[in-house]
Amino acid sequence: MTVQQFMVVSIYTLRAPKMENTATALIANSMDQHYRYQRLVYDKTRQYFLIGRQHLIDELKPLAGQSVLEIGCGTAWNLIKVANRHPEADVFGIDLSRTMLQTASQSLRRKGLQQRIVLSQGDATSFDARATFGRDYFDRIFFSYSLSMIPDWSRSFEHALDMLASGGTLHVVDFGQCEELSNVFKRSLFAFLAHYKVTPRGDLPELAASIAKQKGFATKARNLHYGYTSYISVTAPGNCIPETRLP
Ligand SMILES: C[S@@+](CC[C@H](N)C(=O)[O-])C[C@H]1O[C@@H](n2cnc3c(N)ncnc32)[C@H](O)[C@@H]1O
Repeated sequence: MTVQQFMVVSIYTLRAPKMENTATALIANSMDQHYRYQRLVYDKTRQYFLIGRQHLIDELKPLAGQSVLEIGCGTAWNLIKVANRHPEADVFGIDLSRTMLQTASQSLRRKGLQQRIVLSQGDATSFDARATFGRDYFDRIFFSYSLSMIPDWSRSFEHALDMLASGGTLHVVDFGQCEELSNVFKRSLFAFLAHYKVTPRGDLPELAASIAKQKGFATKARNLHYGYTSYISVTAPGNCIPETRLP
């Protein structure tokens, strides 16, 4: 191990909280196995089929001093783009897989962004934002192709809404139901995705809207790319006041 690799692992390890229970630790280990080799080619290969990520980044529009959190941030491909585009935003990422986070940390160091983006390990369904990042709320929260990998995705979505600051927005981009594409294409795609532990959520737009409505949030859902991509945005009522500026 080189000195640089040692430092990356050390920085990462400092922020890796103890997994709350054995079941979560087991899922984290299986995610690590899953991504052990894939992470090495992840950014190069996924750009061709995780379509719509750029659209989500364009829609975030955080103001100076506001916070942005990605849940299931993987290799930090999105977070790096967000941090470069919004130099005055505070940027955070959480993921269950240690190996993906190691790749993310290496990318941040290569790009000189290790001070700008805070990464941590945690489970999307239950992580404690205060203990993990020292804050309770975020102005922008997003899931990019992660809900289709989280079995209890609705719990993760609900948990994220509870961390949404007043006036904040939550964004989801994920696989859609390919409504305007051929059945052959849809079947082949879904079979291919199943191999990668990915399950497009047929009930995502309706269930997300219903959960958000119960909490008094407005939701917009739409299909992009003939239904290949599902895009959802949720807005919390109230004015945006960056948490750092609250008395
Ligand atoms: C398909 S990747 C997407 C990565 C990134 N968001 C992107 O757009 O490139 C899904 C990510 O979700 C993470 N993930 C899966 N289950 C999770 C959970 N329960 N909590 C947090 N992250 C999870 C995986 O480790 C993986 O990094």
